[in-house]
Amino acid sequence: MSTHRIAVIAGDGIGKEVMPEGLRALQAAAARFGLPLEFTAFEWANCDYYLQHGQMMPADWFDQLKGFNAIYFGAVGWPDAVPDHISLWGSLLKFRREFDQYVNLRPVRLMPGVPCPLANKKPGDIDFYVVRENTEGEYSAVGGRLFENTERETVLQEAVFTRKGVDRILQFAFELAQSRPKKHLTSATKSNGIAISMPYWDERVKAMSANYPDVRWDQYHVDILAARFVLSPERFDVVVASNLFGDILSDLGPACAGTIGIAPSANLNPERTLPSLFEPVHGSAPDIYGKNIANPVAMIWSGAMMLDFLGNGDERYAQGHDAIMRAIETVLVQGPRTPDMGGTASTTEMGTAIAALV
Ligand code: NAD
Ligand code: IPM
Ligand code: MN
Repeated sequence: MSTHRIAVIAGDGIGKEVMPEGLRALQAAAARFGLPLEFTAFEWANCDYYLQHGQMMPADWFDQLKGFNAIYFGAVGWPDAVPDHISLWGSLLKFRREFDQYVNLRPVRLMPGVPCPLANKKPGDIDFYVVRENTEGEYSAVGGRLFENTERETVLQEAVFTRKGVDRILQFAFELAQSRPKKHLTSATKSNGIAISMPYWDERVKAMSANYPDVRWDQYHVDILAARFVLSPERFDVVVASNLFGDILSDLGPACAGTIGIAPSANLNPERTLPSLFEPVHGSAPDIYGKNIANPVAMIWSGAMMLDFLGNGDERYAQGHDAIMRAIETVLVQGPRTPDMGGTASTTEMGTAIAALV
């Protein structure tokens, strides 16, 4: 297999602290299974770069990155210095849209050793995927301000749902459901209140379901779905949602499963014509940055997802993925653990312990 080139962008805050731990685990997997990985670090797409250059990335960022097989990404955002919509629309959200990473795949799993805030749940009870539409929907830049600074001030922001955009995320979600033992799909909408786009989404779900007669499916308004995540998470298998609903559900799910410090994600361009991006669900956590106490597991698990995607069936990559996941599970049970999991270990200690077991 030819070399896989990986662009490394640590970003801001704890992105800079967890990235070395993600790389440590990946290097261990590469050494053990002979994986041809080549890492190239980029010192842009962070708020320090913005403060120096007035933009988050150089003008030729697309050309610099487009030839990579994947982007391994920490987190971006330093809201005290740069407004979040500027830093995120100047980096991560550009990557998702311009590299057409239309699937945001976010596993929600109660892992052994992780205390669950929900009563009487054990590993296996919470094990599903949030499949989040990642390029359109509520995250559109279409709109504007009218009559600014007058009493008539009016602000508009459109949600955009294209047939291609909706169908391709639904197809991915149905395929994923079909590949899993439960073969179940739940669609999150809000067709009672948001009366144009959401009934359209429901129609496309129904149409797509005809192609997957062996997949059982249901749909819920996202408000009651949020309640069901807490009350009966065991009933979910694949949950498909628009960009905003998927964003919210993919923080709620991991919180139900213990801590967002371990939740990974894969921003996929399934056609593989452009790089996919692998990153924790969490952000740059300014409140804990600089203390070396961030949980590195979300970053490390995202790296395992990256191996799975890059390998695309290659046995050595699958072994690398599995070895990292086993190492994560062992350390979640035995420690050392970071403070968000009730431990006293540092980011480095937990990451080093995981890499040593890969
Ligand atoms: P956040 O995820 O950064 O933090 C939320 C809470 O979870 C904080 O209390 C934080 O300490 C804790 N937390 C997060 N990750 C943790 C970890 N690995 N270990 C232990 N605790 C952890 O969300 P926020 O506070 O809403 O956002 C902070 C900044 O990050 C903002 O600029 C935001 O826009 C940005 N953000 C970026 C991304 C991304 O790059 N993908 C995602 C979310 C938020
Ligand atoms: C996420 C984040 C981003 C999102 C923010 C930082 C723009 O919350 O990756 O979940 O809303 O998609
Ligand atoms: Mn989010």
